[in-house]
Amino acid sequence: MKNFRGRTLALIRDFSVSEQLFLYEKAKELKQKWLNKEDLDEFQIKDPVNIYIVFVEPSTRTKESFINAARFHKNAHVNIFDAEHSSFNKNESYVDTFNMLTSYGDYSIFIVRTRLEGVPRLLERKVGEFAHRHGIDKPAFINGGDGRHEHPTQELLDEFTFLEQNNFDNSYIKIALIGDLLHGRTVHSKVDGLKIFKNVEVDLIAPEEIQMPEHYVEKMKSNGFEVRKYFSIDEYLSSSNIARTWYFTRLQLERMGEDILEKEHVLRKAVTFRKDMIDKVKEGTKFYHPLPRPKINPEIPTFLDELSLNGWETQARNGFWIRVVLLSMLGGAITMECDEPEKTPMEEDEYEFIIPAQIVHGTKGVAKEGKRGIKPIENGTVIDHIAKGKSTEEVFNTVVKIRRILKLYDCDSADGIFKSADGSYKGYISLPDRYLTKKEIKKLAAIAPNTTVNIIKDASVKEKYRIKLPPKIYNFDEIRCKNENCITHPKNGENVGASFVRIGDKLVCEYCETPHEYSEIWVI
Ligand code: CP
Repeated sequence: MKNFRGRTLALIRDFSVSEQLFLYEKAKELKQKWLNKEDLDEFQIKDPVNIYIVFVEPSTRTKESFINAARFHKNAHVNIFDAEHSSFNKNESYVDTFNMLTSYGDYSIFIVRTRLEGVPRLLERKVGEFAHRHGIDKPAFINGGDGRHEHPTQELLDEFTFLEQNNFDNSYIKIALIGDLLHGRTVHSKVDGLKIFKNVEVDLIAPEEIQMPEHYVEKMKSNGFEVRKYFSIDEYLSSSNIARTWYFTRLQLERMGEDILEKEHVLRKAVTFRKDMIDKVKEGTKFYHPLPRPKINPEIPTFLDELSLNGWETQARNGFWIRVVLLSMLGGAITMECDEPEKTPMEEDEYEFIIPAQIVHGTKGVAKEGKRGIKPIENGTVIDHIAKGKSTEEVFNTVVKIRRILKLYDCDSADGIFKSADGSYKGYISLPDRYLTKKEIKKLAAIAPNTTVNIIKDASVKEKYRIKLPPKIYNFDEIRCKNENCITHPKNGENVGASFVRIGDKLVCEYCETPHEYSEIWVI
């Protein structure tokens, strides 16, 4: 049996598809029993638990439904953290704050909403270590929304509501996502949350300025979704294949820059429903919205409240039952029969990106007279094929970058750019009597992947390696996530090192999931 105690829900995909479907099944049971006023004891958490509600950003639905869901559990001690009057205002870090709260009970579940992105993942790691040091049970963290990043419990209640609309048939969904797809975290969570359906079609409806970020669109496609883009509701309604499930999101003015805010009126018009559109929507259509909707110029105007299109009220009410069940699971009251192997952390070969290459004797170390190329050295390292195929300026800049980051400026050495046999340019750095540590080679691989490292001894190449982009890059002072809203960004003063994982040819921040080119992570 799978017990969910100590599990963190920072992203919707922190729960597998079968775990999400299990949760929906349980929420369906709870909702029916609740509405029929039947006994609900099976959902009650039996062991004592501290449930902390920590909201650093405003909220009505998420916060209040969690407070009520937590109070459903009679053995839970429910704490509503007063963030405004806490030591956050004396510059205390998130980690220090949550370490303290963790120590006030044997087992805690935290529901956390923050403006900064990646906070729940950070807390899972660092506060988990604190709990381990002090023999306290590993706490569970629930992301109640972290900046523009994710809102996994909203995703749970949204998917549950779509299933309800579909009579719990998860074979197919066609959904229109409408509104601020750039800043709206609830639509970002759909990229993985919709995977509970076997076939998915997504229509994205938003002006270019607030369209879905391209990396999310790519991810939807790689998840097998069919994706189409439209720039206004009018354009969508004049197309041939319109969805019956419409999901609106509000314009997130508080997260917009001045350039987008200036166009608010035009953007809002493109994603606001009007009376004259009603005849064009399909029979059986439901409108959803995570809410709140603005009281002035709402995307779904109030004249719709009385119509059968109104699905958002049922959706919002479902939040309570979903959150009761989620707490039941994290509190250990509901366990799941295991139909899939427990995931074990992957054994990562930290240096799998260093690939031995064939040594062609006589081409390095001992240069032939009259030929351009690497200056002969007796012993040391030659870094070769730097930025091969790029412009001479890029090759030069990469050579300079390597020297600065690896601090290769105080040693006897040479560097240059030369033309390969195929006509492309590449750079080299020759380091007499200097060998790179594994950590330096890893840095080099993350600055200039596909570079070659030659180890030269007694005037001949003894070892040669081709280095690729490493699977994980962390623990270097010179790297930074470019997202200023990320918990790791130095501007936020949390003193958390940046950390990236390689996904395809991109490096993705482990906390806020912002994708980077490898050249973007270096601050030098
Ligand atoms: N849907 C949602 O997150 O609403 P609140 O901001 O009111 O919690």
